[in-house]
Amino acid sequence: MNIAIDGPAGAGKSTVAQLVAKQVGFTYIDTGAMYRALTLRALDRNVPLVDEEGLVDLLRSMLIILKPGAEGQKVFVGDTEVTDDIRHPEVSRNVSIVAKHPKIRHEMMVLQRNMAKEQNVVMDGRDIGTHVLPSAEVKVFLTASIEERAQRRYKELQSKGHPADLSLLKEEIALRDKLDSERETAPLRCAEDATILDSTGLSIDQVVEKIVELYRDTVESRRI
Ligand code: DC
Repeated sequence: MNIAIDGPAGAGKSTVAQLVAKQVGFTYIDTGAMYRALTLRALDRNVPLVDEEGLVDLLRSMLIILKPGAEGQKVFVGDTEVTDDIRHPEVSRNVSIVAKHPKIRHEMMVLQRNMAKEQNVVMDGRDIGTHVLPSAEVKVFLTASIEERAQRRYKELQSKGHPADLSLLKEEIALRDKLDSERETAPLRCAEDATILDSTGLSIDQVVEKIVELYRDTVESRRI
């Protein structure tokens, strides 16, 4: 059984998805972290972000490991932990360029489907309900106003000691939404059978509760 959570940048998907996974006993998979890990490596190795073939080669040479832990998911590329580095603003600014390439999306999709084959997952991203796991039993499209999303990112960056500018963050989030929604391959889109959840003004716990409720209703209806 799988739970797919999609939505725009900063809607709280990863925080919520992690808590939902904990409550229902599933493995949490943050697909954005995979695109971020590739972007980080490409920036480090000076692979041009427009070079699709170069990025495919790079991705195939990497082993991206997502490790669930008490303090959240840790991300490794091979033996190197990149959990914090992939959240760096430079990665955030460039990740949509990398995620646009059809061949990269295909490679990622194969990796993500394999992860979901082996275990029950809560997977978050942009195209999980529409492309990666179209038959996920529970699909949620999580949104929030752009003001609220920028505020949340601002607080998150500040708490980690990264300098942040609220109006710049708002612009960057709007640009990322635009790039993610307008790309040709697997754009950010709400699946037809997804439940739309607007988290503006809701607490994390309230959002988690709603998704767990959806999951329990689905389990119940399958028993009948
Ligand atoms: O969720 P996030 O902000 O960490 O995602 C980083 C970027 O990766 C986001 O701008 C779009 C891309 N992404 C994607 O295209 N498809 C996914 N399934 C997950 C993320």
